[in-house]
Amino acid sequence: MTAQIIDGLALSRKLRAAFAQDVQALTAQGLQPGLAVILVGNNPASQVYVRNKIKACQEAGIHSVLEQLDATTTQQELLARIAALNADAAIHGILVQLPLPPHIDADAVIEAIAPEKDVDGFHISSAGALMTGLDRGFWPCTPHGCLKMLDDIGYDLRGKHAVVVGRSNIVGKPMAMMLLARSATVTICHSATADLGAMTRQADVLVAAVGKAGLITADMVKPGAIVIDVGMNRNAQGKLCGDVDFEGVRQVAGWITPVPGGVGPMTITMLLANTIAAAKRRLA
Ligand code: GUN
Repeated sequence: MTAQIIDGLALSRKLRAAFAQDVQALTAQGLQPGLAVILVGNNPASQVYVRNKIKACQEAGIHSVLEQLDATTTQQELLARIAALNADAAIHGILVQLPLPPHIDADAVIEAIAPEKDVDGFHISSAGALMTGLDRGFWPCTPHGCLKMLDDIGYDLRGKHAVVVGRSNIVGKPMAMMLLARSATVTICHSATADLGAMTRQADVLVAAVGKAGLITADMVKPGAIVIDVGMNRNAQGKLCGDVDFEGVRQVAGWITPVPGGVGPMTITMLLANTIAAAKRRLA
């Protein structure tokens, strides 16, 4: 059996076309959604991600501001920029691209973002709402994009075993909470998990979010499983690849997301969704 591909690019195009209509209607009411993206330093991968986020905003008609700050920017200077954006009525969402240079306390920076502008969903207020099931805050874009892909193929998570590999605040932990909210039985694996393959082989849905090329091999996947690859790595040839050995695993899985063209575009799509939602909440 060869797995069916979950095409994140095609789903993104469909969703973004609908968002562009939403943005047009909001703009006509005098409420053009606005996103500020802050990049500190010159991490090459971050520069690409940020450029793609700004481009997606422009294509959807969302007002966007890119603040590129020098790698030597102090925490105090960054906090002052966030305070200014918190007070800026044209800005509904603020995103500080991670990772930040080591002299800056990322937690303090995230907490400084006004919760109503936390479109990354990293603020403790958003994280707490997801954890407790409260309908407020924002869901982190990458796991939310994964969930949307599962919804798009019409998959019912109730009672299924979902295994998440990775426990980051950006993907692993919020992904587990979203799957739990859909009544999946959820296992979280991480670097100290004793026998990773024994866990992943139980998965009806396997989410790999570690950042290690080729970590998930065909022998670690249950036949027919859905495999969602969140990894963004470069292989020895410099080619973009995920955490999943795509060619091997596609022979076993029922569904699989490619890299590129899977989770990546969906992350940006959900950022647009959160920015539009943030603007709409101004109306409420
Ligand atoms: N770095 C890696 N992923 C993300 C993300 O989703 N948002 C931000 N701000 N930084 C990231």
